[in-house]
Amino acid sequence: MRFYENPQKTAENRLPPRSYYVPEGKSEYTLLNGTWNFAYFEKDIDMPKSIEKWDTIPVPSCWQLHGYGNPNYTNRNYPFPCDPPYVPDDNPCGVYERNFTLEKKWGKVYIAFEGVATCAVLYINGNYVGFTQGSRLRAEFDITPFANQGENTIRVIVYQWCCGSYLEDQDCFRHNGIFRDVVLSQRPVGHIEDVEIIPNDKEISVQIEGKAQITILDQDTVLYSGEMENTFSFAPENPVLWNAEKPYLYTVKLERDGEIITMKTGLRLISIGENYEFLINGVAVKLHGVNHHDTSKYNGYCQTEQQLRWDLELMKELNINCVRTSHYPPHPKFIQMCDEMGFYVVCENDIETHGFASRFPNITYQYDVESNEWPCQDKAWKNEFLSRMERTLETFKCAPSVIMWSLGNESGFGANHAAMANYIHERDNTRPVHSEEASRKGEIRAVDVYSRMYTSPADLAEMAERNDIDRPVFLCEYSHAMGNSPGDVWEYNEVFDRFPKLCGGCIWEWADHVVTRDGVEYYGGDFEGERTHDLNFCCDGMVFADRSLKAGSLEIRAAYQPIKTSFENGILTVYNRLDFTDLSEYTFHYHTEIDGVLQKAENLALSLAPHCTTTIAIEWEAPTCKLGAHLNIVLEKNGVVHALCQHPLPCTVVEEEYNETLKGTESDHEILFEGDSFRYVFSKHYGVFTSMIVDGKEQIAGVPVLSVFRACIDNERKIWDRWLNMTTWKGENISETFSKVYECSLADGVITVKGSLAGISRKPVLQHTLTYTVYQNGTVRVKLDGNIRPDAFWLQRLGFEFVLPEENSAFSYYGRGPVECYCDMHHAMPVGAYQSCAADEYVPYPMPQEHGNHFDTKELTIGNLVFRAEKTMEINVSCYDTKAIQKATHTNELIADGKTHLRIDYKNSGVGSAACGPELSKKYQLCEKEVEFAFTISPKK
Ligand code: GAL
Ligand code: MG
Repeated sequence: MRFYENPQKTAENRLPPRSYYVPEGKSEYTLLNGTWNFAYFEKDIDMPKSIEKWDTIPVPSCWQLHGYGNPNYTNRNYPFPCDPPYVPDDNPCGVYERNFTLEKKWGKVYIAFEGVATCAVLYINGNYVGFTQGSRLRAEFDITPFANQGENTIRVIVYQWCCGSYLEDQDCFRHNGIFRDVVLSQRPVGHIEDVEIIPNDKEISVQIEGKAQITILDQDTVLYSGEMENTFSFAPENPVLWNAEKPYLYTVKLERDGEIITMKTGLRLISIGENYEFLINGVAVKLHGVNHHDTSKYNGYCQTEQQLRWDLELMKELNINCVRTSHYPPHPKFIQMCDEMGFYVVCENDIETHGFASRFPNITYQYDVESNEWPCQDKAWKNEFLSRMERTLETFKCAPSVIMWSLGNESGFGANHAAMANYIHERDNTRPVHSEEASRKGEIRAVDVYSRMYTSPADLAEMAERNDIDRPVFLCEYSHAMGNSPGDVWEYNEVFDRFPKLCGGCIWEWADHVVTRDGVEYYGGDFEGERTHDLNFCCDGMVFADRSLKAGSLEIRAAYQPIKTSFENGILTVYNRLDFTDLSEYTFHYHTEIDGVLQKAENLALSLAPHCTTTIAIEWEAPTCKLGAHLNIVLEKNGVVHALCQHPLPCTVVEEEYNETLKGTESDHEILFEGDSFRYVFSKHYGVFTSMIVDGKEQIAGVPVLSVFRACIDNERKIWDRWLNMTTWKGENISETFSKVYECSLADGVITVKGSLAGISRKPVLQHTLTYTVYQNGTVRVKLDGNIRPDAFWLQRLGFEFVLPEENSAFSYYGRGPVECYCDMHHAMPVGAYQSCAADEYVPYPMPQEHGNHFDTKELTIGNLVFRAEKTMEINVSCYDTKAIQKATHTNELIADGKTHLRIDYKNSGVGSAACGPELSKKYQLCEKEVEFAFTISPKK
């Protein structure tokens, strides 16, 4: 057994964990970040004692992103055999070395690592100091005996794998190296060690060992200053409590022997209500959360402090109030920012052993949780489980933002989990203990919240009504935001809001994990030497890797928005969903529009207390309109839109008048229609218009077809056998269909086409009648009456695909926009008049897929043609052919073909979140078997 393979000894000489703080005053605190010497060895056995040739590497960083080894993304599978506690004999390692200077040797000298993956051995001036495991947990060493005045050398040997890797099977790239700060500090002998300020809602109680000078400040006002010994508490008069909306902090300053430790604290109470509500300061809150992994577009696990702050700022803009630090504690600065900016944090331990769950159905063995094969049940691992939990809790116990401790993720539930839960209950009984697996495995008594992941909205509602679940219900993961999605987040939040027991949840997950090279985002399977990988399952963020927003981000913002509105009989009702903030802190305005044209805009100083409702009478005389009329409500703060709500206004739609039908001139294969400004050719062979010349310009650049296919979205990965290279949709070969014309006839200016649509070697999926009526003004009414095969699986979409000349790429529409939207993902996309062009409709999902749809569209003008739905339609304008999108696996493989592709759809199914979540809800599947769809095509006036 190698030294790093012993779960009973995972560290040597590491100091006991303590609350995170930065010592100041007389103490010195220096980041040893920067350029270090580096030597990499594919096999640790090749590592010589004395290194002849050094490269350099930045610290912090991940070595796989600097040309050492290769990135590897794996979700559940361990990147090595599952043979605990052993790891491969050929264990890659990196040797890091640099010098640092101590101007003066005094007091105690320490080195702390905020994050090293996975096992680090520390040497100072050639002397062994100790070693540590636990990649995302602070590790501090006392180097006083080894450090000299003047120049010193620090060497850190980092091993790629160690037994701790079995506890770090989180779903992410498996990077290595010193990926967070390295800190050198010099402090007076006898300095304060741990500081404990566990928040409550009455007083600031401080515990240290020994004496110190203590000052309590409210902003700049000193509330108390004096001496303390061991314990101290102070109750501010009329305390201002902390919550995520108003993160009020007090300052505690401790001084001993010239060293100053400044801690921020908040007064707040977490409790559980009579109906199992999750209460913050007695108020039932909903956790509008997201799971946050540390991930950066170029730098893997390394996010700078600024980048972490940007993440939180963006979350605020998107109405997020809760972060689960999946699946390990974050950089301590992140928690400090959560205290200061206001987030409820579910602080998770660095434990996941998902790889013990057998993956493939044809594997006959399973690691049985009841046996010792899972680390969670094996005594040999108990201390390491406990130590990781202790390191998490002790580091962050003072943070008001931390509202729950999480035992880890996907690790089974065994005796070692029970031991961690017991430990927390004894050490800090102010915060609930969370473990999803405890709930799933029926061990709910061990924890304080009932937690599940990816439960469907319907099952969630059922859970809320179950009497045996006598604690708050939390979805630690839901609404898998992979690719073009999520489509169910709105509905989930309606369910959360309906039941007091449901305290909300965290969307999976914040940002895509990728490795970016030459502007292309790469994922699992793209790197040499990946022996197991999970493709693009890491690209499942609600924002892109560069933190740019996608439609799903805006949908989440809508689902979490601070207000709920309804409109009936001229009365707008507004509910304030916030828990601690009056709406007067926001700008509230509303405006009315007819056919997308602004009518009246009002700014309201709306004062509305949290969880309260008010009504506003809206003056509106029902006029006439061509397309529709709406009331739009916008809630803003500091120029950021936090809520958009829209309600249709009563309005009489004036129907377009058709004039007389136009008799066409029929020849063998074609029918010709001609008028002042147009000349159309209808192909009897294909049953469609193959030429439409308007004002002398050809509008059609290919044969239009009916189709039912869209490039597979990630959430369809369980239905679409794309990965096996068998492009079938549950056995239906619909990616390429044959349009068959059974018969075509012209009578009284009406063309009737009977036909079918079928995949290769399959029965037709659709049989239909198409009628085309051509009017003298050039308007063509297209009517589809279709029958979908009764036993066909639900369809992705159904509609017409037109190929237009490339130059007809700009368009304007009246429908939902301005960003892509779908029947289940449109709550941030009001109906209105918008303009766009094919190139702007492109959405760069790392794995190209269906995008650019506009649900609920009434009218589209493109080139010299106007398409208008009799009811509504869904439209899509793209530079890419659907098949090209389906074929490309990365953005750089997507090639435009010099045409503009237009879809006029009867319906396009929803996007859901089924890549990991529940199956797409029936209401968003195109599953009807009888279809009626009518629209007109007219020359633009
Ligand atoms: C969950 C897991 C996450 C992630 C997600 C899928 O089961 O907890 O870590 O793997 O599935 O993206
Ligand atoms: Mg997992």
